[in-house]
Amino acid sequence: MTDQKPEVKKKLTLPDLFKKVADGTPITWLTCYDYPTAYLQEQAGIDMILVGDSLAMTMLGFESTLPATMDDMIRHSAAVRRGAPNTFIIGDMPYMSYQPSVETAIRNAGRFMAEAGCDAIKLEGGVEMADKISGIAAAGIPAIGHLGLTPQSVSALGGYKVQGKNAALAKKIVDNAKALEEAGAFMILLEMVPDRLCKLITERAKNCIIMSLGSGPHGHGQLLIYHDMFGLYPRFKPKMAKVFGNAGEVILNGLKGYVAEVTTKTFPARENYFTMKDDEYNELMDLLG
Ligand code: KIV
Repeated sequence: MTDQKPEVKKKLTLPDLFKKVADGTPITWLTCYDYPTAYLQEQAGIDMILVGDSLAMTMLGFESTLPATMDDMIRHSAAVRRGAPNTFIIGDMPYMSYQPSVETAIRNAGRFMAEAGCDAIKLEGGVEMADKISGIAAAGIPAIGHLGLTPQSVSALGGYKVQGKNAALAKKIVDNAKALEEAGAFMILLEMVPDRLCKLITERAKNCIIMSLGSGPHGHGQLLIYHDMFGLYPRFKPKMAKVFGNAGEVILNGLKGYVAEVTTKTFPARENYFTMKDDEYNELMDLLG
């Protein structure tokens, strides 16, 4: 960390997000799972943070998002809140934390708010999840829907691929967006749907913010996965991600430098360790006989 004083921004609220939409200012949204990254994202002026269940892959090395648990999500969401006290933070409801029943969904959504200090929750699915969105919203918890490529259903979807490419499937996504908005979702994330489908849904939304992840420029804002944009996920880089800086490469080079310097005994240098006064050292030798 630098010695610079952190900038303190005003806490971003739900009305602020709708004001951005009304002003035509795109909303910025990133995933984040830890305290130091949350600190940097807030300093950079990011509007919203998603503590995604993608942490199962990006942070814990699993092959899918399914192994993320509620306890994992709460632990990481609370860390992110500590790093970004004034950013709008969304807790991502993990697999089976909302699918079984409306009551399960409300209770787990409530944990994100009460235990981690989140501002909203997100869950995956369309009309079949409308009752959960409606129950959560009725409990006073801002709820976000997620359509298109929904990673918790990756097996049923047949892999990580673009959704809604033909007219019939696109119509289903339009209908699902309508159902989620009517159920009370204040925001919908469209992941990996064609740009024109995202535009259409954005134009039809009445009181709902539409966010794009790999769905083109026409939503009310953009989401990216932090690890993809900084070269920090070794398994693959999705087409929708742009690398804004190769932190993975910087870190790898630093690690190689450490290995080289320790091996060649150039680290630690004099400024990296502590010494003892001669008289204290001599006394120690006396004490040791
Ligand atoms: O978990 C996550 O990061 C997500 C994104 C893929 C949208 O849900």
